[in-house]
Amino acid sequence: MLTAVQQRQAENRQSPKLENIRKLVVIGCGGYIGSHLLEAVLPRTQIEVFGADPITSKIEDLLAAPNLRVHRGYLRQHETLDTLEEEISSADAVINLAAICNPAEYNTRPLDVIYSNFLDSYPLVEMCSKHKAWLIHFSTSEVYGRTIASYLGENRYDDPALYELDESTTPLIMGPIQNQRWSYACAKQLLERFIYAHYADHGLPFTIVRPLNFFGPRMDYIPGRDGEGTPRVLACFMAALMDGQPMQLVDGGHARRTIVSIHDAINATLRILENADRAQGVIFNVGNRNNEVTMAELAEHMRRIYAEVAGDDAYRNHPIEVVSADDFYGEGYEDCDRRMPHLERAETLLGWKPVLTLEETLRETVDYYYDHYVKNPAAGQIAAGE
Ligand code: UGA
Repeated sequence: MLTAVQQRQAENRQSPKLENIRKLVVIGCGGYIGSHLLEAVLPRTQIEVFGADPITSKIEDLLAAPNLRVHRGYLRQHETLDTLEEEISSADAVINLAAICNPAEYNTRPLDVIYSNFLDSYPLVEMCSKHKAWLIHFSTSEVYGRTIASYLGENRYDDPALYELDESTTPLIMGPIQNQRWSYACAKQLLERFIYAHYADHGLPFTIVRPLNFFGPRMDYIPGRDGEGTPRVLACFMAALMDGQPMQLVDGGHARRTIVSIHDAINATLRILENADRAQGVIFNVGNRNNEVTMAELAEHMRRIYAEVAGDDAYRNHPIEVVSADDFYGEGYEDCDRRMPHLERAETLLGWKPVLTLEETLRETVDYYYDHYVKNPAAGQIAAGE
């Protein structure tokens, strides 16, 4: 019998039918989201996919697909832009997934972050605008910044209006300039505004997706195995469990995130592709309201599930320690306190609802990491991608 995760994956491969899409351009096709998207789309042999990415280790198994062509290069390279322009002029949709999106880099590499998330991407927006190509841009829930409740002091979370995130009405609140954590959110927000202005002034067909913590296999990298640095929380906790180090809770682990399975997120993306008439000109939150956890709760869940997967009860008491944000990220970090998305828009316009629970999502993900890195350590040779 298929698990809930396998059922969702099968659904993604079989339906919706995507009859209006003959050719798709995917920038960042070799990253985490791109690899799952290609896995769902490529078996539909009628769709031609042109991908661009400098790193393809996460899609090695897909590279032989007859309907996939990949250009290896960064968006900032002239050669990549020239190649893309030709491909975009005949594409039914262009999906932009390219980004530096690890919080540890926002305050330590702010210029690279701003280049990557705004300056490298704006020529792509202009190109889509010129050719009237439908741009589906993956932005971020970080454009919302901090909630109103977080500025009003304790106990204001009793009023959802002060913390829930609505695509059209919630103000976007970021901290001061010296808190460089916001370099990413700000660059992403400016690109959203740039896309919107092209839509308003030149009729650019666009859709913006604001992801809220997509979890699943192939997310990020494990430091010291297939990458260096500090990845996002999932890979940090996995690395701690695998390497026998304490799981670290930044500032006590009080921040909250809603976790959505990558397979639910891919389902939303496919529904966007299938519903061009309803999805164009629209911004969608893609998340799961039912899967909210504090980072402290996430650590608890992950060590329990890891103990089950590894068959070793000792992991249930794996050490957890509290660290300050300054020690963990360095100066200039500030956190998003809570991300509870409104999802009515995706449900009404696309008929989309996330179906996978936190337990199912974490179980699949921990299983993958354990198989990939512990049972098969040679897999740790692959290069890191996003
Ligand atoms: C990141 C990106 O900035 C977003 O663009 C993206 O949309 C989002 O991930 C996502 O995956 O959708 P964030 O959720 O803040 O945002 O990134 P994480 O690194 O996963 O951090 C989540 C929380 O865990 C933060 O409160 C962080 O301080 C905490 N954390 C992180 C720990 O407590 N311990 C760690 O080892 C790492």
